[in-house]
Parts: sequence; C-alpha cells; structure tokens
Amino acid sequence: MREHGLSKVLISEEEIAEIVGRLGREITDCYRDSDKELIVIGLLRGSFIFMADLVREIRHPMVTDFLTISSYGDHTESSGDVKVVMDLDESITDRDVLLVEDIIDTGHTFSKVVHMLRARAPASLRICTLLDKPSRRKVDVEIDFCGIEIPDEFVCGYGLDYAQKYRNVPYVGIYSGSTESAD
Ligand code: IMP
Ligand code: MG
Repeated sequence: MREHGLSKVLISEEEIAEIVGRLGREITDCYRDSDKELIVIGLLRGSFIFMADLVREIRHPMVTDFLTISSYGDHTESSGDVKVVMDLDESITDRDVLLVEDIIDTGHTFSKVVHMLRARAPASLRICTLLDKPSRRKVDVEIDFCGIEIPDEFVCGYGLDYAQKYRNVPYVGIYSGSTESAD
C-alpha cells in the first residue's frame, strides 16, 4: 500500500534488501585484509534505517558512531552551510572510517563533512550512500560504495524525510506534494 503523499514506489523493500546486501558484501570485501576495527559513522537523521540494516551485512569488527549536522531543515535544496549539531563520541585519528549517508544530492553537505573528518587524520575514509542523484551534483564527491542512482525526484521513506515525515515508510517513494511551501 502506498503512503498518502508519496506518488510512486521507486525502490521496493525487496530491492532495498538486495542493494543493502550487495553493499555489505562489497564493504566486507574491501576491508577483508585489514585487521583493524572499522568505525562506521552514520549521518543523522536520514541514514539511521539504512545504517541499521547495512551494519548487519558487514562481516568485519566494527564500532558505530553518529554525527548530526544541519544542512537544510525542511527545504529541498541544501545551501552548503553545514553546522555540527552533535559531534562524534569516538576519535577517528588513525582509524578506518566508513561514512554512511542516505542520499547524495548536490554534494554540498557531504563534501563539508568529508573535509571536516579528513582534518582529523583518519587512516582511511570511505563513503557509502544508499542513493545518488548525480544529475543534481554541484560539488564533486567521491563515492566508494553506491547503492543506486536515482533520477531528479524528491524521494522519501527508508529514513528519508520531507519535513521530518515519511522516515518510517519501508520503501523509497517519490514525494508528490509541493516542496516549495515547506518551512
Ligand atoms: P546535499 O548537500 O544536497 O547533497 O544534500 C544531502 C542531504 O539532503 C541528504 O542527507 C538528505 O537529508 C537531503 N536530501 C537530498 N535529496 C533528498 C530527497 O530526495 N529526499 C529527502 N532528502 C533529501
Ligand atoms: Mg533530510
């Protein structure tokens, strides 16, 4: 059944599970020869559901941590102004870091976060995103593990929101309401 406000199922629950399984295998493979513990960092709030599923598909010792940054409240395009709302608990210096994001759109948010984390001198820093909207990119972002490319549509569900709503929807759907009047 479709949620009111979402016009179309873009990625079903079954497809999501396949994508997450494949990403888990790619990530496991990538760190196979490393005996270091991984630190997996989720960007809140959008990544929380993806992160929960993804970490269970990665077969490597890890700790998890979360970072909350503010990018764009209820608007639908980020400004590039990024503020740390809640910082990491863990130090990432000399550690293998995997940053987990729900979607990379303009790339503004992510490039700022990556820049900030690189300054803390991790041993390695890799990026995993569930969704990629390359047609909207303004800032180059190097993605190491990409779930799926999507067209230029505003999507919700599986952690992604519009005005904090729809995060609990189990699939990714296209938002059909107006994104102009929010705030
Ligand atoms: P960027 O800075 O433009 O790459 O924006 C990244 C952030 O914008 C993501 O972490 C999401 O929170 C949000 N975002 C971008 N596109 C969408 C979308 O289609 N649906 C929901 N949130 C989105
Ligand atoms: Mg959001």
